[in-house]
Amino acid sequence: MKHIAIFASGTGSNARKIIEHFKQHPQIKVNLVVSNKPHAPVLQMAASHGVSTLVIQREQFYKTQNLLHELALFHIEFIVLAGFLWLVPPYLVQKFPQKIVNIHPALLPKYGGKGMYGMHVHRAVWAAKETISGITIHYVNEQYDEGDVIYQAECHLEDAENPDAIAKRVLNLEHQHFSRIIEEILLQSV
Ligand code: GAR
Repeated sequence: MKHIAIFASGTGSNARKIIEHFKQHPQIKVNLVVSNKPHAPVLQMAASHGVSTLVIQREQFYKTQNLLHELALFHIEFIVLAGFLWLVPPYLVQKFPQKIVNIHPALLPKYGGKGMYGMHVHRAVWAAKETISGITIHYVNEQYDEGDVIYQAECHLEDAENPDAIAKRVLNLEHQHFSRIIEEILLQSV
């Protein structure tokens, strides 16, 4: 069994899809959800599915490596960032080389980097009058949104009325593809 941890800061709609996708999976199990926000809805959602949760604090996360111990207790081999908004520190990237993936709500390298998350991305895409946006699933390295790209999918924006409409389309794409791509990566590495 491969044990994965999901890191998320907010609503957790992607985390929910992933947990549901792997619920009965014979080889992959979501064993832990980690959040930097004690009141993030994702924590309640995870608990309601019987998945353990962990809240991390900034100081501990960046100044100690205690998290590695926690991840080992849960036998975590692979980490999925699903709306996790903190930069991953070097000790974690080094411990999990090409074993951390992130989903970004745009077609990287466009609209990536520090401060480019959630609605900030969709507002920028809207302001630039882009006719296409999409999702990028990529490995995580020590810079925001710069690791190797694993998968991209596009959506057309010609008839999108506002940034909210773009967000809805992009989130829909995320829900369609993220779990499947995670499964493919994990099964390839068995
Ligand atoms: C998702 O759209 C994800 O791509 C984005 O946050 C949202 C989380 O939604 N991540 C970033 O912007 C990272 N730079 P969710 O909590 O409903 O899964």
